[in-house]
Amino acid sequence: MLTITICVGSSCYVRGSDKVAKTLERLIQQENLSAQVELTGAFCMEQCSMGVSVRVDDQVYPEVYPEDAESFFYNEVVSRLQQGVK
Ligand code: FES
Repeated sequence: MLTITICVGSSCYVRGSDKVAKTLERLIQQENLSAQVELTGAFCMEQCSMGVSVRVDDQVYPEVYPEDAESFFYNEVVSRLQQGVK
């Protein structure tokens, strides 16, 4: 089980954390991964930067933009799941 935590602190919210969350949620459904990926929210991760902070298990990605959420999902989430399967 992989946990994706999206920062919902005010700085990330302004940068579109709700859009990132919606995109990730849609892709999890689309790829049928809801049994393997948990999506949750957290307050400020103290990594406020130019984008939205997203944590995948223990690793924080401080610059995810709403328009990049889809490639982020495939590059960082799906690829991790595939590595875990190997
Ligand atoms: S508000 Fe998201 S890291 Fe600070």
